[in-house]
Amino acid sequence: MTALVLVGMSVTDVDRRDELLAAAGDRSASVAFLQMGDPSLSLELTRLADAGAEVITLVGVDLGPLAPAHSWLRRIAGHWWRERAGVRPVIEVATRLASSLSDLDAASRSTKPISGHEPGLTSPAWEDVTGHQRQVLICRGPRCTARGSEASMRALILGLMEAGLSDQDVLITHTGCQFPCNQAPVVSVQPDDVWYGAVDPDVAREIVTNHLVAGMPVESHRLPR
Ligand code: FES
Repeated sequence: MTALVLVGMSVTDVDRRDELLAAAGDRSASVAFLQMGDPSLSLELTRLADAGAEVITLVGVDLGPLAPAHSWLRRIAGHWWRERAGVRPVIEVATRLASSLSDLDAASRSTKPISGHEPGLTSPAWEDVTGHQRQVLICRGPRCTARGSEASMRALILGLMEAGLSDQDVLITHTGCQFPCNQAPVVSVQPDDVWYGAVDPDVAREIVTNHLVAGMPVESHRLPR
């Protein structure tokens, strides 16, 4: 038995679940996510292996600009393979990410098997908490996602990059529902305890310029506390 899995790589691919499922259905494949989505890649590999899959082919899909590097697909699959008890399937990984749904078949033509020697999930570079001054929590819950949090997130991240701020200054974190859903899309800034509602991309840019760079919260979109 062989199996094909389309793997959404970035948090933005979770928002495209329906498109991925449709593309998977056309190919008798299944869908998994590297982060933020269900099922995770590890859970899907376990399900398929338990069902008797002998060869599993993984094709990473990057429909947005914020996917982690392709190497993460091999790292996660390699970790699962090493940890898997008993008979292990052969895992073939497409040698590049598919950049669109129409690119899926071309991307899956060239694959390389998991050997078990892939780098692990730890690194000396990931030992310490960053030195960030502020943490920006971007709600990716269902209401905020439906009302445009993906575009707001992109604007925030691009604004931070243009301002020259890194993880050592501002740590961006994606969250589930933060509860004031009526104010979606919601963004909160800690430890300032400043909450924002109706954060569209323009407001996201203002938050970067006024609050995260200049230290002045954007009062027009600040939620009462
Ligand atoms: S979904 Fe964002 S606050 Fe509830």
